[in-house]
Amino acid sequence: MKILMVCLGNICRSPLAEGIMKAKAPENFVIDSAGTISMHEGNHPDKRAIKTASNHGIDISKQRSRPITQSDFETFDKIYCMDVDVLADVISKAKNEEQRQKVSLFLEILGDHENAEVPDPYWGDLNEFEEVYQLLDRGCDAILNKI
Ligand code: 4NP
Repeated sequence: MKILMVCLGNICRSPLAEGIMKAKAPENFVIDSAGTISMHEGNHPDKRAIKTASNHGIDISKQRSRPITQSDFETFDKIYCMDVDVLADVISKAKNEEQRQKVSLFLEILGDHENAEVPDPYWGDLNEFEEVYQLLDRGCDAILNKI
């Protein structure tokens, strides 16, 4: 199973989702993350995301931001988007129905409409990163249960 986590900048939410999923998933799973913008390309995750992951024993410090590419739609089986704007953007890049079928909202699986989006913690503080971590942790458990 190959899973891609996608957010806007690929420096806060999706790097955390990648790190959490890597820590939980079977070893033969491939987990990666990307952003819909290339503004932070090549950068390591936001220091607050690194710190939050580290508080939970997960090292995401070596990840590098990259934008989603056309080949991601062929490589990955599942593409999980952190919010509805990202979802719309990613779906618009899919070339056909098979590729579109791979794309969904990360939190859809929790069936909890209010929490369907992973809030962007970029303008927040460490508490918001921790809240995002908890949501991502629940979402990853639910996704793995279903798979
Ligand atoms: P992310 O957070 O999409 O979770 O990585 C953001 C990162 C950067 C920006 C916004 C959100 N930005 O505006 O640069």
